[in-house]
Amino acid sequence: MSGMRHIDPKNATVREIFGYLQGGIAPRPIALVSTRSADGARNLSPFSFFNGFGGNPPTVCFSPSRRQRDGSIKDTYTNLMATRECVIQAVTYDMVQQVSLASTEYPTGTDEFIKSGLTPIPSDVVKPDRVAESPFQMECILKEMIHLGEGNGSGNLAICEVVRFHIAEDIVVNGVIHPDAIDLVGRNSADFYTRASGNAIFAVKKPLETRGMGVDQLPDFIRNSNVLTGNNLGQLGNTEHFPDNEDVISFVNQFQATEATELGYRRLQQRGDYKGMLAAAMYFLRSKNGNAAYYIEESAKTALDVANDTDFAWKAALYAEAARRILAKKS
Ligand SMILES: Cc1cc2nc3c(=O)[nH]c(=O)nc-3n(C[C@H](O)[C@H](O)[C@H](O)COP(=O)(O)O)c2cc1C
Repeated sequence: MSGMRHIDPKNATVREIFGYLQGGIAPRPIALVSTRSADGARNLSPFSFFNGFGGNPPTVCFSPSRRQRDGSIKDTYTNLMATRECVIQAVTYDMVQQVSLASTEYPTGTDEFIKSGLTPIPSDVVKPDRVAESPFQMECILKEMIHLGEGNGSGNLAICEVVRFHIAEDIVVNGVIHPDAIDLVGRNSADFYTRASGNAIFAVKKPLETRGMGVDQLPDFIRNSNVLTGNNLGQLGNTEHFPDNEDVISFVNQFQATEATELGYRRLQQRGDYKGMLAAAMYFLRSKNGNAAYYIEESAKTALDVANDTDFAWKAALYAEAARRILAKKS
């Protein structure tokens, strides 16, 4: 890739490094962390250097770092070290403005439940309260705190074990916490956030049940295609074997060449009607249109893009290659 920056972190400021990490590791899940001080005062703050790291025991980590400004320690860190308890909640779109408000650097001892207007409710096992507005809450015990440095902006990795999950029934759809139902937000760089639902959600078939052949096993004309993208090659490489000639012939026989203009073909493409695209491309082939093979291959790409229809895509791609040979002979 041309025009890349190459940075030795030793020659960058802490602020720049945070910018790189926050921009390149994104969107990050947000832990809304509730703690209590040694004398019982409530605290609530968001942390996006956060993730889950194991299921047995259920383990999550987040990093209440030293302040970039002056290297001072955050209340969440102090409270955790004193009490070794916290509650971590997922942050949804409906709460994000209040959560951001809770990140304000109020003086020590300020109750950010009150400042943010979020609602405290008692936990089952630990002393810090839960946040009622979050549909996903984890009561946690601090197992270990790893200090990642002593200077400004250095991280403190809080390794926590979850001792109780609280999950709202209405975010579980067919046994799965559904992204549209939980409607999480993630943190990006600067002031940017991501809403992780609606159009942002798509599915990628897990390669667990099958052992895909891999991109290296795809025929050269597919690997070197000008139409198919890297994602398309990944989809085809996730199939176990490719169809033989007879499969392709019986596939093609299911379609009837349908008279179309190139403009009409583009409309079918816009609608994602890949079967209609193939029928039109067959008409182009019959009319000896020099681009017919290209159009057939585009129907394969659309099948992958709109429906992950790898069966159709394989057969259409192989048919496109055959069409290319037919057209080459004719010219
Ligand atoms: C979405 C979001 C994510 C944040 N992530 C982190 C983080 O991962 N680590 C951190 O130290 N501060 C993070 N902050 C800043 C803290 O929330 C902020 O410093 C807060 O005031 C700390 O509060 P405390 O001193 O009460 O613990 C984040 C702020 C926001 C709004």
